Amino acid sequence: MTSPNLKLQKVTILGIAGSPRAGNTEIMVREALAGATEVSGVRTRFFSFHRRRFGPCVGECWEYCASHGDCCFMDDFQEFLELWLAADGILFGVPVYHMSVPAQVKAAIDRLGNVLASYFGDDLPRFSKVCAALTQGLDAFGGQELTLQYLLGHFVLMNCLAVSGDLLQSYIGAAGVAPGIELDAIQRNERALAVARNVGRRVAEMSCIVKAGLAALGDELPEKYFFRREMLGRK
Ligand SMILES: Cc1cc2nc3c(=O)[nH]c(=O)nc-3n(C[C@H](O)[C@H](O)[C@H](O)COP(=O)(O)O)c2cc1C
Repeated sequence: MTSPNLKLQKVTILGIAGSPRAGNTEIMVREALAGATEVSGVRTRFFSFHRRRFGPCVGECWEYCASHGDCCFMDDFQEFLELWLAADGILFGVPVYHMSVPAQVKAAIDRLGNVLASYFGDDLPRFSKVCAALTQGLDAFGGQELTLQYLLGHFVLMNCLAVSGDLLQSYIGAAGVAPGIELDAIQRNERALAVARNVGRRVAEMSCIVKAGLAALGDELPEKYFFRREMLGRK
């Protein structure tokens, strides 16, 4: 049943593979994107950290961030920022590194947060992107849940909406064990791939619901709910 005021709109789902290798994380994220495309009206984008450069935030160029809405260091961050801003939903996958996310991913997240928070100050848009976390590591108790929790905190901090998949498959995201150090070891873990697909589908469904809801409520909502790319640029 479709209400006349709730036309389903196209949504863009961004899959992020946050590993320096083109390996298990990428396989899991692509599976999640395949799940997302089971929902009609979904367009997907993919960004991998493989062979990308992300320097860390140095925390002393706030004025540049605040006036430009960008980071003063030019590397692969700018492409990451553009894709992030354009997405309605995000499937953020990472390998577990030392019970958390890889340093490159932490650097990207630090810079994303600082650029947007510096530029918008107290008026950070309510981005309302529907986000889910995916991870896999070598060991069963290797820190998957801590890694997912880190990403969930990042989603909430960025005024986004964190979701998971369906119980009893996924608890707070898609997590699995890659039973070996090969690039495709996760292929031997069918359950991890099924969970990734389930989470991908949920993100796509919820992104459609949120986008339709925002469109239907229109003027009744504060401006903060309606981010447009042209709001971010040199002041
Ligand atoms: C620097 C580093 C730290 C790691 N730390 C952990 C860890 O804390 N827990 C774990 O289960 N696996 C850990 N691993 C193993 C990776 O998570 C695992 O090999 C994963 O499948 C790699 O994903 P990828 O193929 O997408 O790169 C670590 C690997 C590296 C290179």
